Order: sequence, then C-alpha cells, then structure tokens
Amino acid sequence: MKKKILGISGSMKRQNSSSEYLLSVALEAVRQQDPKIETEQVRLNDYNIIPCEGCGNCMNSTACHLLDHPEDQLEDLYWKLVDADGFIFSSPVYALSLPAQWKTWIDRCEPCSPKDLDYPYYNYDRVVNVKGKALRGKVAGMICVAAGPGHEWALASLLPPFTAVKLSMIASAGISLIEFDGQPGIQKRPWSQSVKDAEFAKLMAQGVGMRVASAIGYSTFDAVPMKKRQTDQTDILSMPVFDVDDQRFLVKDIATKKSVNSASGDSENGKNIFIIGNQMARETCREIYKQLETDLAGKCNCYVIAVIGTTPEFITRTFIKEKLQQVMGDANILFDWDDNVNDITGKKVDKPMVLICSSSGEQLKMLNTIDVNDVPEIAQFITG
Ligand SMILES: Cc1cc2nc3c(=O)[nH]c(=O)nc-3n(C[C@H](O)[C@H](O)[C@H](O)COP(=O)(O)O)c2cc1C
Repeated sequence: MKKKILGISGSMKRQNSSSEYLLSVALEAVRQQDPKIETEQVRLNDYNIIPCEGCGNCMNSTACHLLDHPEDQLEDLYWKLVDADGFIFSSPVYALSLPAQWKTWIDRCEPCSPKDLDYPYYNYDRVVNVKGKALRGKVAGMICVAAGPGHEWALASLLPPFTAVKLSMIASAGISLIEFDGQPGIQKRPWSQSVKDAEFAKLMAQGVGMRVASAIGYSTFDAVPMKKRQTDQTDILSMPVFDVDDQRFLVKDIATKKSVNSASGDSENGKNIFIIGNQMARETCREIYKQLETDLAGKCNCYVIAVIGTTPEFITRTFIKEKLQQVMGDANILFDWDDNVNDITGKKVDKPMVLICSSSGEQLKMLNTIDVNDVPEIAQFITG
C-alpha cells in the first residue's frame, strides 16, 4: 500500500516563508529517496482552528462543540493526519518558541470522530489512544528556522505532547538563517540573501526528509494500525444478515420477513428489535437505533439493551447509566440485562449486536448478531 508523508508548515506569512520553502525541499528529498512515497504539503495557518475553550467535554466522552462551529476546520486537518504515515513539521521561530498556531492546534487535538468518544473514563491511555490517535505509532521530523537563536527551544517545545501520544520524532534540524531570510520589517542588510541560496539549510532539510522517509513504519513506539477514513457512511439497513434457513436478507427487510421465528411458523409482524451493547458500543448503538427507528417506524418496536461493562472502581454504575442515557437520547433503554444477555449470547457486547424476537412475549431468541465493525460481511447466527 502506498505510504504518505504529510508536511505541515507553520509560518504566519502568506508568502516568501523560509520554513515553508525548506519544507518543500525536505519533501522533494522524500520523493527522491523513495518515489513510492506520496507527499502533501499544507499550511497550518490555512486551517481556521478555533482555540479550545476549556469546557472539558472531550474528557467526558462528549464531542467538542467547536467541531460544529461552521468556521472551525480542525476536522479537515485531522483527516489528513489520519491518512498520513509520517509527518514533517516546519516552522519559523517566534520568541524562542513556535508561533501560537501550533499550540492552538495541539490543544484541540481531541476526538474528531464520534467513534473515538466510545470510552468509559478518561486517563492517560485515553490521551494516547483517542487524542493522539492520528499520530500514535507514526514517525515525524521537525525543521525550525530562526533568524538567530531559539531554534533549539522551538524544536523542544512540542516534543512533550508529541511523545505523550507516541509520535516518534526521529529527525530534526534547527537552522539559523540570519544572512539569508531578509526579515520583513528589518532594514535590508547588505549581505542579505535569498533562502534558496542557503545550501547548508537545504542540506539539513533534505536530511530530515530522507530520514523520515526511511523511518516510515519503524516507530520507536508500538505502531497501531488505524483504519483509513471511511468515505461512505455505513448503511446499517443495507447490511446482510442470515436467517435460520441460511437465507440472506437485509436488515431493512427484517420487518417484512416472515420466517424469522420458524419454530412457530407465525408471521412475524410486530417484532421487537433489540440493539445490545455496553458503554464501549454506545455511539454505534445510537446510530443503529436512530436508523431503525426512522426506517422501520410502525413495523417494529426498537429497544436498546444497555449492558454495563467493566468499570474502574472509582466510577459508579449509576454514573455510566446517566451517561448512556444522555448519549441515547429518548431511545427506549432497558438497563441491567447483563446476566440475561450474557447467558443468551455468551458474547462480549463491546460491539453492538442486534437481537430480533416476536412481540408475543415468548422467550427471547437470539437470531442474528451483527458486528458492525466488520461490515458488510456476514453476521453470525446464534440460536437462543
Ligand atoms: C514574531 C516573531 C518573532 C521572532 N522571534 C525570533 C526569535 O526568537 N529568534 C530568532 O532567531 N528569530 C526570530 N524571528 C525571526 C524568524 O524566526 C525568522 O525570520 C524565520 O526565518 C522566519 O521564517 P518564515 O519565513 O518561515 O516565517 C521572529 C520573527 C517573528 C515574526
């Protein structure tokens, strides 16, 4: 599969940026070293990232409200990070550190996908696995360009958060360009030259590019394969399931399917559909519920069976229930089915399952389970 290195430059300048130029030199070196590696160069400052407001919702399994802000573009950048296997960051030095834009971005590195909100509590693991999900296990290089001093501090400034989320910084270049960059606002010095003539700087940038290119896939941390962004939303109603006779049908046809409970031979009008999951599966359960409620309204009764999975000692079950209730909105929720569900299925329910039974009050019969994470392929058939 093709590898990709994303270059992000961080100058506030709209043109004649030395750090942006040196990033292009680094990416050119990547392509020369390995033509199979795809590169893309973006400007951090082209993304309007609204500063974090400190509400703490992202630590409480709730989506950041700023993601809904029409002008916020954090998510656009996030999906580029997800698709990349390595990064080269390049920035000017401002006041012995990096321009504020970098910190604004890092402070907002939060769950950008509803799936990433599926965690029961917040701790260091969550920071690594959720906040740093697009960076974890990947490699990066950094170029910092100063007029004189400060590149060393700037290089170090983002190292702690990058390291915390297990991004391997494997190459860096701190460059002083005093003779070359022709700072705007500073009287032109007689010896000022174009950055394009700074051979030493270009060599350093090339070194970073080549090192990152050869290090892709060799993170000093454990690499975690991350699924690429799904371009099409999963259509749960069009997912195939199989009945007791091994006949394939679609979820949306459940309501009209006659032979679901073949033992009685009865027609199955007025079915109950239960979506089962624990707190790890709640977002997906909600999506399934919403879809079934909308598309099968009047044909089926939809319920969610919320199973409370393992929780750390300091989190109460009541708290988890409250959170589930919040996520599920006005869904019909049945709590405390833990034992029943486990007895019937013998399965973990950290991925949603769908259970169908007649509404005549008979014993529940597990007819289909759907692991929506493995769509669109087969749902496993279990008899109750
Ligand atoms: C607000 C501001 C602060 C700066 N602070 C420093 C500094 O602390 N040390 C330094 O050597 N250069 C400093 N510079 C100079 C830039 O780092 C230098 O000109 C750099 O090459 C600009 O890169 P760019 O063209 O990609 O924007 C500063 C420039 C600006 C605009």
